[in-house]
Amino acid sequence: MSVIENSKVTVVGAGSVGSSVAYAALIRGSARHIALYDINTAKVEAEVLDLAHGTQFTGTSDIIGGSDISVAAGSHVVVITAGAKQNPGQSRIELAGVNAGIMRKMMPQLLEVAPNAVYVIVTNPCDVLTVLSTEETGLPPERLFASGTVLDTSRLRWKLGQRAGVAASSVHAYIIGEHGDTEFPLWSQTTIGTVPILDWETEGHPKMTADELDSISVDVRDAAYKVIQGKGATNYAIGLSSARIIEAILNDENAVLPVSTVLKDFHGIDGVALSVPSIVNASGAFPIRGTQFSPGELGLLRRSADALREVAASLR
Ligand code: 2OP
Repeated sequence: MSVIENSKVTVVGAGSVGSSVAYAALIRGSARHIALYDINTAKVEAEVLDLAHGTQFTGTSDIIGGSDISVAAGSHVVVITAGAKQNPGQSRIELAGVNAGIMRKMMPQLLEVAPNAVYVIVTNPCDVLTVLSTEETGLPPERLFASGTVLDTSRLRWKLGQRAGVAASSVHAYIIGEHGDTEFPLWSQTTIGTVPILDWETEGHPKMTADELDSISVDVRDAAYKVIQGKGATNYAIGLSSARIIEAILNDENAVLPVSTVLKDFHGIDGVALSVPSIVNASGAFPIRGTQFSPGELGLLRRSADALREVAASLR
């Protein structure tokens, strides 16, 4: 449980993602108080009841919620999941126009009831919504950031762990850039334990080739499309990764997570929100300036920045 007394997180949006964030936070005990907010009264009340009915089997977290924005009052963290979701075959970027409109309306209302919270945007395209909301609210970049590629990084670590025969938690790898089609792995810094990824080899787990790594990165990039094709949404893994971000904030952990903040003179990149390894604590998220990139990786990061800059510009 958090180092903040009576810690409170509000999850905005009671769809499959928001409800899964609340569920993951509840069973992990990520915060003392969890609130769920949605404009759909019947839906949010039903989700809260369903979650509350299970609290005999969870820790000391409690769950409240409703369609009155005052449920978010006093939050230390607000996680935003509200908005249109991807349909099969649709990219995250295609949601930009409609979800930017929703954010524009919602952020001032949330800031009124939770003026001191750290805001985490999960709604897609999360990088674009982060830069627009940061500009519109005037919040410092560390206090309004996106879940970014924390989930994609978990997907990558799982796949590499399976292939290498080690626990995902022993794979040191990051997906960075856009949470979307231009994201990429920071292969130059990837190790399993201390062993560089291309040198890893154990009984039954032969060395990986560069081509194999390429194909793994494509699978990770396209993972959400695959899940959405099969079940209409992704929800469990984004729920868990969001709960992890909530904990890093509420526990003031200084955890290194690839969240997406508006970058300022980061290896020459400015004014666009992108995921890079960042320190996450009770004050928010801080990109790690000392992160090393190969020249090729820096080129890919700039390509991600250019793509997102263009989408954000079309919405201002
Ligand atoms: C995901 O990556 C769709 O952004 C969501 O699962």
